[in-house]
Amino acid sequence: YRGYPIEQLAENSTYLEVAYLLLNGELPKADELAVWEKTIGSHAMVHESVRQFLDGFRWGSHTMGMLVSVLGAKSTFYPDSRNISSPELMELHTARLVSKVATVAALCYRHSRGLPYIYPDASLGFCENFLNMLFNSPNTKYEPNPILVKALEVLFILHADHEQNCSTSTMRGIGSSLADPYSSTAGAAAALYGPLHGGANEAVLKMLMEIGDVKNVPSYIERVKSREVLLQGFGHRVYKHYDPRASIVKQTANEVFEVTGRNSLIDIAMELERIALEDDFFVSRKLYPNVDFYSGIIYQAMGLPVDMYPVLFAIPRTAGWLAQWKEMMHD
Ligand code: SDX
Repeated sequence: YRGYPIEQLAENSTYLEVAYLLLNGELPKADELAVWEKTIGSHAMVHESVRQFLDGFRWGSHTMGMLVSVLGAKSTFYPDSRNISSPELMELHTARLVSKVATVAALCYRHSRGLPYIYPDASLGFCENFLNMLFNSPNTKYEPNPILVKALEVLFILHADHEQNCSTSTMRGIGSSLADPYSSTAGAAAALYGPLHGGANEAVLKMLMEIGDVKNVPSYIERVKSREVLLQGFGHRVYKHYDPRASIVKQTANEVFEVTGRNSLIDIAMELERIALEDDFFVSRKLYPNVDFYSGIIYQAMGLPVDMYPVLFAIPRTAGWLAQWKEMMHD
């Protein structure tokens, strides 16, 4: 990102530092980071009437469908967000979106499960606050495990931006008509929803659940070779070699499984990767695991439901979408 190796950022930075880097071109100095963190914390609340939007969704609704809808609706709360020519206003709405996308995501999750909403807590870090809004409950004290918080920071950093992919191009396309940033972000999130893009991590889990047992892996591989099915989480428009993000996510996965314990889906995923990395069908087509292959099994191990995976992708990618939108508007 902006000339910094992704490995270095994943190791040494927080997601908010990386979001600042993407949006401003440099990593924040200590005083700049303090202001940025305070700003993001101050924008985490959403208008209470957002609850009424959510009430319109049947419980069990797909959280990504809800997120796309509510992000678009947020444009109606800020009429001045249509004043695209004001850099000050666009900075304000950029900070609002980076912050509120996590709150809206948590609200969608809680509503889809019929759980009471948990308000943001500005005293917590971005990722800790997000996990708290997802998993805290009025009748238990939730303490996020620091290893899981760090894993989420790394996953958010890795998913924050990535060239001119489908959703980023959508953000630029909608933004080029001078639509407000909320409407542009809602459109980008809709593009990310698809299983060929951000919905791939959800498709990976569905594939692993369909395979069901390591002994069924060879027959699934045969179905892939006969072009009956895709090997979800493999291949990439750009990377025709091992995606550098995938190796970081794989390392993070092992750290998470130390805390959560392994399960059969992880064993199936490892066997799929082992076969794919040596089988000529995949090697000749330069098909390697992409960032979505492992992120899905980490989220599953962390207790997150499958429909939330594209939502978890959209949260950090909002910073990347806005950075690219800002570049288009001002460069
Ligand atoms: C992301 O742009 C980005 O950077 C996106 C992303 C980001 O951070 O924003 O990195 C995140 O979207 C990663 C991709 C997530 N999607 C999936 O994992 C879905 C499964 N992958 C495929 O749908 C596919 O690999 C794509 C869509 C990702 C890429 O498609 P391409 O560019 O058409 O693949 P290719 O040209 O490299 O394909 C070469 C061959 C073809 O077969 P032949 O016609 O040559 O015989 O490989 C085949 C393809 O049919 N192929 C696959 C395959 N992906 C490609 N065969 C089986 N399983 C797959 N997953």
